[in-house]
Amino acid sequence: MSSQGHRVHVSYHKWMLQDEARGAALQAMIDELVKPGDVVADVGTGTGILALLALRAGAARVHAIDASPIVRIVQQIAEDNDVADRVVCHEADAATLQLPEPVDVVFSECLGNFAFGDAMFRTLQAFSERNLAPDGRRGPTEVRLYLQPADTRLFWDPRRFWEEPFDGFDFSAFLPAVMNRMYVVDVVSSFCWDEPAMALAFDPYDRADAYDLDATWPIPEGKLVTALCGWFEVDWAPNATMGSGPDDPGTHWMQVLFPIPARTAAAGDRLEVTVHVTFDDEERPAYRWTGRWIDHAGEAVAEFEHGEALLFSR
Ligand SMILES: C[S@@+](CC[C@H](N)C(=O)[O-])C[C@H]1O[C@@H](n2cnc3c(N)ncnc32)[C@H](O)[C@@H]1O
Repeated sequence: MSSQGHRVHVSYHKWMLQDEARGAALQAMIDELVKPGDVVADVGTGTGILALLALRAGAARVHAIDASPIVRIVQQIAEDNDVADRVVCHEADAATLQLPEPVDVVFSECLGNFAFGDAMFRTLQAFSERNLAPDGRRGPTEVRLYLQPADTRLFWDPRRFWEEPFDGFDFSAFLPAVMNRMYVVDVVSSFCWDEPAMALAFDPYDRADAYDLDATWPIPEGKLVTALCGWFEVDWAPNATMGSGPDDPGTHWMQVLFPIPARTAAAGDRLEVTVHVTFDDEERPAYRWTGRWIDHAGEAVAEFEHGEALLFSR
């Protein structure tokens, strides 16, 4: 089972509820998926917001499921909002839960940072296979991951602190370590070069064991690149698309940055990268990113490899 559920704090739920772009997109998903009289499953119900919206859209009954004891409060919320007779709360791991009836709709706000962060896709798949009626509907329907080179120095640089002495001591030996993790950052779009590359499209109900996200860009001469910016776009339902990129309306997901060695492009330079994604037994993603600069003559002039597994390598 995903271990993430128990870690989500109530203040994080407040942050999600206040995310207007997310809220509008999820409302669009419910408007598209839920028909009057449907029996619905909300996987990872959290505060119960999507369960309540599904009832407002005419669902006959909602199974509100969460691995966290937060779902005990959702029961109270259903009573306080006079819908307790139409909400069935389950404090359970959705990966193994067998509902007492098949459902017409399964949906889930299952996306974390760079989509994979909430570690819920296999859970969702197992839940859907067990509980969705044969002609049932489900969301989200597709997730796409984007990458784009960025010069982050003016708004984010994990290196700067370690480059300077602290209290008279040299801590610069930590510099390699700060290059080996992914960061969640609100990225300024005007510092991203060339076009975003769609590096992966996948079905959240059928996640693969691993992914290689390949992308390549021409980098304008004189532009500095310090990181790869990453984000997701999601079809919550076929016509309910939401982006979380630097040019999209801001969401609580923001973007992610994969640091790479700073390099200024010469005329004709290209940057080729691959972000490798693997998952542990609890579905938590691990990232490794590799790449190289290719000059105008097609020669590789610089290479890099970073990743969480290399955190304290030197
Ligand atoms: C991103 S939050 C979404 C909450 C709510 N649906 C919303 O849209 O505001 C995901 C929720 O999924 C729950 N969750 C994570 N893994 C789970 C699992 N294996 N089974 C059931 N719930 C899970 C978490 O506890 C968390 O409340």
